[in-house]
Amino acid sequence: MRLAVAALAASLFLAVPAAAERRVEFVASAPADAALVLPLRNVDHLGHASTTLDEPTRQAISRALASAEFDYKRGSTLSLRGIGAWPQILVVGMGEPPFEPKHLQDLGGTLAQQVKPSQRAAVLLSTIPSAGPQAGLHVATGALLGGYSFDSYKSADPAKPKAADAPLLIVGSDAATAERFRREGAALAEGTNFARDLIREPANVLYPEAFVERTRKAFAGVRGVTVEVLDVPAMERLGMGAILSVGRGSVRPPRLLIVRYTGASDAPLVALAGKGITFDSGGISLKPGAGMWAMKGDMAGAASVIGTALSLAKSQAPVNVIAVAALAENMPGGSATRPGDVVRAYNGKTIEILNTDAEGRLVLADAVSYLERQYRPAAIVDIATLTGAVSTALGDEYAGLFTRHDPLAAQLTAAGAATGEELWRLPLHPNYAKDMKSSIADLKNVVEGGAPGAGFGAHFIGEFVAATPWAHLDIAGVDNRSSALPTVPEGLSGFGVRLLDRFVREFRVNNAK
Ligand code: BES
Ligand code: ZN
Ligand code: MN
Repeated sequence: MRLAVAALAASLFLAVPAAAERRVEFVASAPADAALVLPLRNVDHLGHASTTLDEPTRQAISRALASAEFDYKRGSTLSLRGIGAWPQILVVGMGEPPFEPKHLQDLGGTLAQQVKPSQRAAVLLSTIPSAGPQAGLHVATGALLGGYSFDSYKSADPAKPKAADAPLLIVGSDAATAERFRREGAALAEGTNFARDLIREPANVLYPEAFVERTRKAFAGVRGVTVEVLDVPAMERLGMGAILSVGRGSVRPPRLLIVRYTGASDAPLVALAGKGITFDSGGISLKPGAGMWAMKGDMAGAASVIGTALSLAKSQAPVNVIAVAALAENMPGGSATRPGDVVRAYNGKTIEILNTDAEGRLVLADAVSYLERQYRPAAIVDIATLTGAVSTALGDEYAGLFTRHDPLAAQLTAAGAATGEELWRLPLHPNYAKDMKSSIADLKNVVEGGAPGAGFGAHFIGEFVAATPWAHLDIAGVDNRSSALPTVPEGLSGFGVRLLDRFVREFRVNNAK
């Protein structure tokens, strides 16, 4: 009965349409009724807009820039009205070249945030001559990322009908770039915004089975993809006592969701594992009430690995990837795991659970060992909102990177720098192994009162990978931004999709230590 009611409630909620997204069109010239977006690194480059703007208009813009003392720095903006017939002219500073893809994405995000969605916007690429026609790919992608909003649950004001989103027009690109955007850029934005939607969904709507259903829907009909789901009996048969222990206190059963995308016959297999706690109350080691609501986002790691697989699969990238979401709800129900309980993980190791709030490492223990044994990947990367300690150390600009494998560290750090989702490497001292020994089991899940908290969490997960190059990304901190970036909304960020998409595309096997 309870299940039937839950399913009905879920289907009612899921019927709410997803947020509208701007369409992007590649056009030859800017229509006069569009808001005109002019990226500029100096006033002289206004001359490159001569096919769009006549001389008096360019002079008017130039005077406005001078009197506003516009600095042309990356991300500076000046919004002008009443020049010529244009409803708005938005000048965006470009700073100095080179203009990397992430800077061009920022340009797109800035315009998506500053031109109202109901207004057509046309961005001129000719005023950034050194960027080339491919710039349109990144500008368009950035606009889809930066224009993200989540309004599934806001009742529309009937007195004020919501204007449909007007298209974004890219002026001065080429056909090959437009095609590449439709294949790659749109897929990257879709994967990221899919993750952002899942993270924002409240936990009464998004529980493990609902996460699975959303994923199945998103991947339906996509070439090269298989979706496999382990339910409780399957996980019991496999001996996954760690993830099962986390789900026990909830009426929503846990799931292990496995999305595999095969896009190449000769590429190495990269495995991604994401922490998918759809709500983390702490369990019997209950969290304090203030701010606990934010733990609806404790599945951000799972959302980002599935979002990455969605991006790679939808763009039919020539890679092989397997993404696992370790899904459970951590609740203090009557059958919940107690502090002091001992469980056996998939790889046979026993764990003394001293604190039920250190649950992310438990679900990932089974996920990474299952990935390693079952699929023999070339590398395993897990991503998790694992510890408050990492956000104390690194804040919301860097995620923590833990690995003993230098080539993996280098490849992940490079992907972070290229995409703007940056990583900072933190240590994994061999002595952490001694610290995490239990008096009655093979290991314990926390070191009481122990620091370094983020390092212990990372070490614990590493105990469940035998020989495969492995890295752990702790995204507690970067998962929730206090201020927006051009391509990232304020609040829950969807961190990791761009980083991991890039990492998988560029991945090279390298056994050098
Ligand atoms: N999900 C939390 C970590 C977290 C905290 C994420 C704040 C995002 C924002 C995790 O499960 C947790 O509770 N970690 C504990 C670990 C401790 C019990 C060893 C923590 O960080 O306090
Ligand atoms: Zn958690
Ligand atoms: Mn916790």
